[in-house]
Amino acid sequence: MALHPLHTLVEQLKAQPIIFIGGKGGVGKTTTAAALASYYASQQQKTLIVSTDPAHSLGDVLDTQLNNTKTAISPYLDAIELNPDVIVDAHFAQVEHTISAYANPDMMPKIREHLRLSKSAPGAQEAAMLEAMCQHLVCAADANSDKKYEHIIFDTAPTGHTLRLLVLPEMMGAWTDGLLAQQRRQAKLRSVANHLDSHNQTRGSGGQKNSDHDVQNPFAAKKSDRWEQAVAVLEKRKALFRQAGLLLHDRGQTAIVLVMTADVLPLAETKRAVSQLEDSKLPPAAIVVNQLIKPTQADAFWQHRAERQQQLLQDIESSFPNYSLYPIYLQKTDVRGTDALSTLLEASC
Ligand SMILES: Nc1ncnc2c1ncn2[C@@H]1O[C@H](COP(=O)(O)OP(=O)(O)OP(=O)(O)O)[C@@H](O)[C@H]1O
Ligand SMILES: [Mg+2]
Repeated sequence: MALHPLHTLVEQLKAQPIIFIGGKGGVGKTTTAAALASYYASQQQKTLIVSTDPAHSLGDVLDTQLNNTKTAISPYLDAIELNPDVIVDAHFAQVEHTISAYANPDMMPKIREHLRLSKSAPGAQEAAMLEAMCQHLVCAADANSDKKYEHIIFDTAPTGHTLRLLVLPEMMGAWTDGLLAQQRRQAKLRSVANHLDSHNQTRGSGGQKNSDHDVQNPFAAKKSDRWEQAVAVLEKRKALFRQAGLLLHDRGQTAIVLVMTADVLPLAETKRAVSQLEDSKLPPAAIVVNQLIKPTQADAFWQHRAERQQQLLQDIESSFPNYSLYPIYLQKTDVRGTDALSTLLEASC
């Protein structure tokens, strides 16, 4: 069987600072992500682990309470559990603040109600999560920043979600482009309309030219400020998605590691994930086969399961001939805490 010893996964990923761990629900993504992060930190390599899974099990696995901001787990390991509710609240508070600077105060209750409803609109949390993920990604990978990490590991929610997160920066970039193009068209139309308006007023006032159109129309200046603000926000977001997209597509920077177990359904889902990733030009760097049973340790019941896993391992190997496969063996209990997690890699060699 062409399984590589697990410690060579660490070697293989040494050059890629960004690692995304994906896979079907419950196969061991968080355990694998936390094991890699704990191992790198134990080697005194500055590591950040970010969970994008709203289910929040990273804190449980690391045996620490985590939140939406960085928590230092050890001198070399920081961890964050991105919280979509907190991110969405902060985002809409910012939007409300911006709007209140130019909106008629009487309109604010209605605007607040609209924003409150928008928070639960489909996609709002996903968009907020994506933006936060991109910010952490770009900031932690910035070679000029003192916040740079040697390893940035993303523990993600089950497969579909991860794949969307990986391809979304491109889609959001295109969407932002569309919005910017629309803003530019509207700005052009507005300037033509303003020009015509001032021309008419000049003629209407018996040839006396209106020297300052904004004095005649006090809302014009505010409106143009608003457009500029909106365009600046969109431009900034576009640059962020572009940078994140470049990092994600750079195989020298980002490695995607898929985790599966040697079972029929995870194999089927991993096949789909690999082909979708290949279609998006994001082929995975490696596949980890978790919860393997060592046949030598097994009694009759587990012996049967171990044999079944060995049969499936043959299918797995023939399904992914182009990818390196790494085993993690089933432990007697759940693996929690950085010491146990970092030795999981050694226990699986
Ligand atoms: N090699 C292993 N040995 C023993 N227990 C394991 C092993 N790998 C994972 N587990 C246990 O299996 C359960 C699921 O693991 P984990 O939370 O890492 O999966 P996940 O893929 O992140 O799940 P989710 O899709 O819900 O995020 C946990 O209780 C974990 O402790
Ligand atoms: Mg998980």
